[in-house]
Amino acid sequence: MKTVLTFGTFDVLHIGHIRILERAAACGDRLIVGVSSDALNFSKKGRNPIYPEAERMAIIAALRCVDEVFLEESLELKGEYIKNRNADILVMGNDWEGKFDEFNSLCEVQYLSRTEGISTTSLIDTIKKYA
Ligand code: CTP
Repeated sequence: MKTVLTFGTFDVLHIGHIRILERAAACGDRLIVGVSSDALNFSKKGRNPIYPEAERMAIIAALRCVDEVFLEESLELKGEYIKNRNADILVMGNDWEGKFDEFNSLCEVQYLSRTEGISTTSLIDTIKKYA
């Protein structure tokens, strides 16, 4: 039984999110997703997500490929989350390539390629143009 752990904001859900979650799930038997809190997102990106954390968690939890979600409250706690959840594999998008190699001592670390041409930020920009 291999547990896969991944993290993200997953605001304004799009096909890039679905693809990485499905591929992360295919790396093991059980997928756990740490959804970044609103406060963490604000500190990282300087803005609040469009969907608040409770809604982002509910949306991700509703996906067939996801077994469990929790709130990621701090970037510094990744090691603790890996240990507490007994993760065998940490999956991150390759925008983070190399940045999480320190966790190789706790679990396998895999970087999966992002889907080209889409992001929450670009979607918000497109929607703004219609407004
Ligand atoms: N992701 C992906 N392909 C994309 C966009 C995101 O595979 N086109 C992955 C990221 O690598 C990450 C997860 O989806 O593992 C969550 O990313 P997130 O930052 O929430 O999504 P973005 O669309 O990149 O958001 P933003 O534009 O706000 O940075």
